[in-house]
Amino acid sequence: MVNRVTVLGSLNVDNIMQVKRLPLPGETMTMSAKKIAGGGKGANQAIAAARSGAQTAFIGKVGADEQGRLMKGYLEDAKIDATSVTLATEETGQAFILLQENGENSILVLGGANQAITDDDIEAAKEKITTADFLITQFETPIEASITAFKYAKENDVVTILNPAPAKRVPEALLKNVDLIVLNETETELLTGIKIDAEESWYQAAAKLAKMGVKNTIITLGSKGAYYKTTTAEGFIKAFKVATLDTTAAGDTFLGALSSQLDKALSNIEEAIVFASMASALAVQKFGAIPSIPQLNEVNDALGEANF
Ligand code: RIB
Repeated sequence: MVNRVTVLGSLNVDNIMQVKRLPLPGETMTMSAKKIAGGGKGANQAIAAARSGAQTAFIGKVGADEQGRLMKGYLEDAKIDATSVTLATEETGQAFILLQENGENSILVLGGANQAITDDDIEAAKEKITTADFLITQFETPIEASITAFKYAKENDVVTILNPAPAKRVPEALLKNVDLIVLNETETELLTGIKIDAEESWYQAAAKLAKMGVKNTIITLGSKGAYYKTTTAEGFIKAFKVATLDTTAAGDTFLGALSSQLDKALSNIEEAIVFASMASALAVQKFGAIPSIPQLNEVNDALGEANF
């Protein structure tokens, strides 16, 4: 069965600046290269879902500019329904990424059109939410719109997935409608107050999130792997060991790929995480966000060749 996934989220043009290391305060440095690629957490997650085989729709906003046309084009090329991507008076979102030689990045985001999404946009795109199996959102678009979207989703038996990135506190009005939260170590610490290091801290954080109302959690632990705790299952999936070129969109690829494989009861979460981990392992071996996200056959081939 093909999952229907709707993503409410951001579309950014990524300006990638390749540097040896981060500059120190007051230091002027040369960069080794500058590249432009499609990105934005929302767009990356939607493209990962679509390339992994999900029937995907997007709710978002771009500026009436060249970058906006470019970003909408990326969605359409991936066969994503982009009819709920509307025009804002603000310019299309942009990200400025300092990519270090070790593959790590530091990102500055100019929200632009992404920040112009309102409840009216959610109302207009309501059908995209209510007819989906999964609704995903992150924090590069206004939280008020996410609250409304998640409310509509829950009223219609749609499974909601929250990726609280960039890290921000989650209002109760949103938390109460989250079925599954997928977050990294930094986001987990901000939300729960628990520093993620030893195994014990994973269990404590998931328990704290359950107390806060979210019963199903995946904590992504970078190159270590991912810990999951649902109402019926718990476990840890080791990450695939690969040579990392660029970690941009690794988490987004994980999330989108995951949503393409999960069943609505989350009963196959372990297999879905293995698939998502491989998609992410393939993404970090290429430059850029959208250009690095693998297709379904690439993930399946890599899984077929892997020893695990
Ligand atoms: O998660 C990676 C994304 O974060 C980049 O594509 C950039 O646009 C920022 O939104």
